[in-house]
This record gives sequence, C-alpha cells and structure tokens, in this order.
Amino acid sequence: MSEQATKTGTSVSTLRCIGCGRTALADRFRCEHCRDLLEIIYPGWDERGLGGLSSVALKQLWRNRRSSLDPVDQSGVWRFRELLPEIYSHQIISIREGNTPVYELPHCAKSAGMRQLFAKHQGLNPTGSFKDTGMTVASSFARQAGYRWVACASTGNTSASMAAYAARGGLHSLVLIPDGKISWSKLSQSLDYGAITCQLKTDFDGCVRVLNEVVERMPVYLLNSVNPYRVEGQKTAAFELLEQFDWQPPDHIIVPGGNLANSSAIGKALREMKQLGFISRLPKVSVIQAEGANPLVRTIHETGGEKLVPVHAETMATAIRIGNPASWKKALRVIAETDGTVEQVTEVEIAAAKAEIGAEGIGCEPASAVTLAGLKKLVKSGFVKANESVVLVLTGHLLKDSEFTLKFHRGDLFTGTPQQSEAEILKTHQRAPLVLEPSVDAVIALLNSAEE
Ligand code: F0G
Repeated sequence: MSEQATKTGTSVSTLRCIGCGRTALADRFRCEHCRDLLEIIYPGWDERGLGGLSSVALKQLWRNRRSSLDPVDQSGVWRFRELLPEIYSHQIISIREGNTPVYELPHCAKSAGMRQLFAKHQGLNPTGSFKDTGMTVASSFARQAGYRWVACASTGNTSASMAAYAARGGLHSLVLIPDGKISWSKLSQSLDYGAITCQLKTDFDGCVRVLNEVVERMPVYLLNSVNPYRVEGQKTAAFELLEQFDWQPPDHIIVPGGNLANSSAIGKALREMKQLGFISRLPKVSVIQAEGANPLVRTIHETGGEKLVPVHAETMATAIRIGNPASWKKALRVIAETDGTVEQVTEVEIAAAKAEIGAEGIGCEPASAVTLAGLKKLVKSGFVKANESVVLVLTGHLLKDSEFTLKFHRGDLFTGTPQQSEAEILKTHQRAPLVLEPSVDAVIALLNSAEE
C-alpha cells in the first residue's frame, strides 16, 4: 500500500484541555495553563461527518476488515481507524490486539441474581490485558513523532504491554514498578520483552511522581494512561462491544477502577458513538474499586466529586492498588453522563468473584473480578435490575497472577490477615491439588468419592 493510501483515517485530531478547553501540542499530557489532563478531539466530525461515510457503511466496513489479510485491518483497534487519530500505516506497531470475545456467564449471573450476564474479556489481548488496545496507538504515535525511548510507571500490565510494543517497534523502553508489589508474571513479561525494568522502593503513586520528573528532563515519551493516545486505543473495546451486540447497547457496563483511564475511554467511545449516530442511548457505566484502594468512591461520597480524596492504597488486587488516580475527572464525567455509579468491594468478595469467573472456564486476574463482586452489590441495592443486560469488562488474564490463584485454592490467601475468619466462606470455591499415591486404585477411589 502507498503511504498516501494508508494514512489511517479521516480523523484529523487536536488535543484539548478537559478543564479550560485550550488546545495543546500533540505530544503533551497536561494543559500548560491549568495542568488538567488533555483529551483528543476530532473537529472535522462536526462539519464533515466521517469522510462522507454513513454509520451503516462504516459498520459494514469495520466488519469486513475482520476477514482482510492486511495486518492493520486485522487489528481489532485499527479496523476502527476512522474514529482514531491519524497515524501512517508504516508507523503502526500492532500485535493484532483487540477482537476479544464476549462470553455469557450463566453461573455468575445466577449467583448475582441476574437472568443473564456477559463478560468482554480484554485479558485475551496479546500480552494478556486490555492495555494493548491503548498501547498500539500511543506507541505508534511515539514512533511517528520520532521518539526513541518510551517509559511508564505501572502496577504491571501497562509495563508488560509497553515493553512488548516497544520491542516490536524498535523503541527502547523504561519501566518503573513498585518493588515487591506486582505479580511475578507481569514482571517477567517486561524482562522478557527487553525493557529496562526498575523496581522502586515505593508504591505505584510514588513511581508516577518519579517518572513525571524524568520525562520532563529527558527526551522520553510517557506511555502512562494520562497519555491521550492510549485512551483513544482503549475506546475501541466499546466500539467492538457494541458491534458484538449488533449495535443495541446493553443497559450496564461495569469496569474496574484503578488510575481510571479505562472507564474514561469506554465512556468517551460511547459519547462519540452517540454523537455520530451509531447508537441512540448510552449504557450506564459503573466503576468498581477495591475497598482498600477506593479514592473515586470516597471522592464522590465525601466531596460530591468536587475534589479528589487520595488514599494510601492497599489491596491484593495489585493491578488496581492506586491511591491517587490521574484520570478521576474524566471518569467522573463518564459516570455523570451515563447515569452510572461507583461501588467498592472487600478482598474476600474479590476472591470469591474471581473463583466464580474461573469456574465458568473463563478466569481473570483479581482486579477484573471486582466487576462481578460489584455487580452483586449493585443488584442488591436495586441499581441493577435482574432482567437488565449487563457486561462486565474483564481486564486481565487468569495467568497474570497465578500466585493469587494458587494461594486461594490452597486456602492460604487470607492466612494471618484480619479477613481470616470472613474468608471461611471461600471454602466451597477452593480446589486444592490432591497428592495421591501413584496407584490406579487411589485414583479410582477418588473418582468414586467425587461422584457422590
Ligand atoms: N484491571 C487491570 C488488570 C489493570 O491492570 C488495571 C490498571 C486496571 C484494571 C485499572 O484500569 O487504571 O484504567 O482504571 N493497571 C495499570 C497498570 C495501572 O499499570 O498496569 P485503569
């Protein structure tokens, strides 16, 4: 394909401050005037629509690209390129991200008191988390803008994803992670993909503080989720979800909340879909946090959303162990616009929900399981009705945190913690490995007793 033909889309984009509305240069992350976050807008959409294509034509085009042999079309992100910032196709770094399945979860539905329940499994992306959808856009932009180095602070999934995309794109990458507070599998990914990986003796919020200063002083492009190009890529999960529902929006979408970029991205996608006439109503977007890492919940309950209430975060769902989320204002806007809500869940509730998702033959990492735990509470409170349609966004793969899973099934997860007695209720979900003599009789005896 010629370069001219492959400039990816119709969408000329601009960066705009979410606070004061001023525009900003393409490789900035905060407004120079008020320090608020930036978002990408597409001024052309108002005047010209989408390059003369109707929403009906685009829906068909996006679907057709799934059977194309072009790697850019095969990406579940770039097949929606009409709604993404312009990147030359020779600059695109793709590992065929996106195109993730929606599964029905009948047993989880029953245990939550729902007639039906669906999960969009973003953990089935190439590096095992939803981060890949944003990383393909932001890393491609970094390469197009001429950066040689990219960097992020991370609870593990962003770093794994960034390291992979940097490697594929011939960029150097620097990872800052909290020492001892991320899962081994995630750490091993960034090592294997060749990132310079630094374990800092602080938490995620501390890593962010250090990195923000480093990128001010060095020609290194920041790939944390304050990066507005990441949000653009993460939008595509919602486009794809609507496509999988034949453009009939579900009543609710439930997402885990950490740094709050994913909820922001999904909400932005829905807003744009409505603006462009793809859908006529918005699903309610609700954000679930761990009780020990609940700054958004506290911000809403204690200040009515006026002022962020940072917390010292502590949860075994290490991916969302974040006390000072950067995208809190964007997430608040999404919750308000869609009439969604926030909820918080305990460590034991997270562990139970994770086991239930696993027992469906699907599985996810602990941070993703807050969605089911949160749904149960939202059904009890009456916010979600039994006959409504609900989609949980599962953000990470089961194998991202095998240590958690093994400890859970061996019954060790809460040993010596204040939740030890509360955790007794988890016993029915636990399946510890059984050690047997290597004899046929022993195995048959076991099978017979299992049948009873
Ligand atoms: N689920 C998983 C599996 C995550 O890794 C994260 C964030 C979230 C949910 C929360 O998403 O931050 O957009 O609200 N992980 C980041 C990281 C912070 O560094 O990997 P969010």
